[in-house]
Amino acid sequence: MSEKNWSLLYLSQEDCVAAGGTKMRETLKAVERSFFLHGKGAFIQPGKPVVRWGGPETEETSGRIMSMPSYLGGKEFADELIKRDLLGPVDTSGIKYIPSCPPNPSKGLPRATAIIIILDPETLIPVCVMDGAVVSAMRTGAASGVAAKYLANPDSKLFGLVGGSVQGMTQAVAMKAALPSLETLRIYDLNYDTAVKFAEKMFPVLNMDVIPVKTVKEAFVDMDVISTATMAREPYVNKEWYKPGVFHAEISFWDTPPEALDVFDRIFVDDWEQVKHHGVDVSWRAVDQGVITREGISGNLGEVVAGSKKGRLSPEDKIFFNPIGMGIHDLSEGYRVYRSAQAKGVGSQMSYFAKANGWLESLGF
Ligand SMILES: NC(=O)c1ccc[n+]([C@@H]2O[C@H](COP(=O)([O-])OP(=O)(O)OC[C@H]3O[C@@H](n4cnc5c(N)ncnc54)[C@H](O)[C@@H]3O)[C@@H](O)[C@H]2O)c1
Repeated sequence: MSEKNWSLLYLSQEDCVAAGGTKMRETLKAVERSFFLHGKGAFIQPGKPVVRWGGPETEETSGRIMSMPSYLGGKEFADELIKRDLLGPVDTSGIKYIPSCPPNPSKGLPRATAIIIILDPETLIPVCVMDGAVVSAMRTGAASGVAAKYLANPDSKLFGLVGGSVQGMTQAVAMKAALPSLETLRIYDLNYDTAVKFAEKMFPVLNMDVIPVKTVKEAFVDMDVISTATMAREPYVNKEWYKPGVFHAEISFWDTPPEALDVFDRIFVDDWEQVKHHGVDVSWRAVDQGVITREGISGNLGEVVAGSKKGRLSPEDKIFFNPIGMGIHDLSEGYRVYRSAQAKGVGSQMSYFAKANGWLESLGF
């Protein structure tokens, strides 16, 4: 029996921050890397197992638990990744385990928490166990940011955001990083006080006007870019509100009604197979209900990032981006934070085992 021991790196939320986990420009690179490798087919990402206690709508009430295993490659695209300033290959596997408990915020606890495990590519033994909440929120913002980079009009000035909580904040930072031309953000939240607090907190971070508004319509009409990130349980979006050229990123699930999707010239998702598998996104429900055809889904964003499909065809196009959320984003961003933590000496080394299969020595009754 081998005497080899094994230790792994543990990263708390504070460790993730110390390792640069909240630096959006770097997260954008990690997430664009995963879109690029997705577009090149250099990934493995099975459909997410979801544990929930009722139909899809109960994810917004009683909650759910998702497991997101994946592999991300990149070796064969190393030169192009470096040329594009996208951090380089990943070439390993990992998993995010992410429960969502909607009643938590009323108890002062986060709705979503998560753990990410990253494996050593050679032995497939875990080398890092880290908080996944920071990575998850940052990568979700960054996915919309990458989509905006490729799909929004580059001179966009007005940004309407619905939902002023955790995801709303990362949406805002990512959109501003991707579209520096943005000058004004209108924030609407069902709870007006949340919108006011969002404006106070985010104004100095974003360095743009941040205006809390009292009706959701004000966060839509005239906006060049829109992001919806709420726990809405029923649709509230009116398709008459969209102006020509708009880019709308919908990361939550029940905001826009399926019947509104026929106003869009282009609709992109992150991974249509995953969207179908989960069966919650409005893009899936619009196809399922016959509002649009399958051909009405223009493609996966990775195809645009990798250059095999066109994104925006005209400045007048109305474009909808509807990501279900991909495990390869968590892996790419988690791997970035892990490597940065290693380089900075952040985190705690923990013994996984002192001796290979040593536990068998105490096997008995
Ligand atoms: N697609 C993805 O990849 C992805 C990833 C992570 C989170 N999400 C989704 O993002 C959403 C927001 O996450 P969070 O962590 O910020 O949630 P949260 O529970 O912390 O906050 C939700 C916010 O939405 C507001 N809200 C609820 N209903 C509303 C309505 N009808 N109109 C306007 N505001 C409303 C609430 O007041 C609250 O401020 C969730 O639906 C979550 O599932 C998607």
